[in-house]
Amino acid sequence: MNKLLLHPAAKPVLWLLLALPALWLGYAAANNLLGANPAEALIRSLGDWTLRALCLTLALTPLRQITGWSGLVRLRRNIGVTVFIYGTLHWLAYAVFDQGLDVAAILKDIAKRPFILVGTAAWLALMPLAATSFNAAVRKLGGQAWKDLHKLTYAIGPIALLHFFWMRAGKNNFGEVAVYAAIVGVLLGWRWWKRWSSPQRSMAKA
Ligand code: HEM
Repeated sequence: MNKLLLHPAAKPVLWLLLALPALWLGYAAANNLLGANPAEALIRSLGDWTLRALCLTLALTPLRQITGWSGLVRLRRNIGVTVFIYGTLHWLAYAVFDQGLDVAAILKDIAKRPFILVGTAAWLALMPLAATSFNAAVRKLGGQAWKDLHKLTYAIGPIALLHFFWMRAGKNNFGEVAVYAAIVGVLLGWRWWKRWSSPQRSMAKA
């Protein structure tokens, strides 16, 4: 197999797989399958999928380095855009079902609940990444500036975790937060370790 290549069906299949949770949630909401508190279930599920998609984006570089399959990197932008789409659906579900789309109430809530403030920060940080995820934006910014901007992804992981942690702190329920923190920790730790153990750095230190 040519490790630079992706099967032509890879992107359509990936889009379909990434859309499945949203399609299922739409179906479940329309058919009253979301339990006693459908609004809460919808907001939470969309938050979970935002975080899962974020973990998947962070996993691509380690996977490429371990398998040598560089074609994987060509999926990064698709998955990155999916993080933004799920994050926006999560925000929309919150704005509509929790706050009745009342802008003043949303602003008040951001000021009142720290986990909402932190979630908003993570979502806002996703915006410039989504806005520059097209070929024209990559060309306009230039490769290096684009890469530098997209390093923001590394900060979004911990900010999203803080949002999750703070939300669960009110309920004293940290099991899932610990699992995601371990995943994000390994994925970011891998990059840090690769960077610090690279031959160029060892030569610079010698
Ligand atoms: C990158 C952005 C974000 C990520 C990754 C994220 C992730 C999450 C996760 C994982 C949960 C917990 C779900 C669970 O309990 O299973 C959650 C809950 C929640 N998030 Fe977010 N979130 C983000 C942005 C936002 C934004 C912008 C808002 C609103 C301004 C928001 C509002 C909420 C609310 C209201 C809950 C549920 C609280 C509850 O049910 O008590 N999130 N989010």
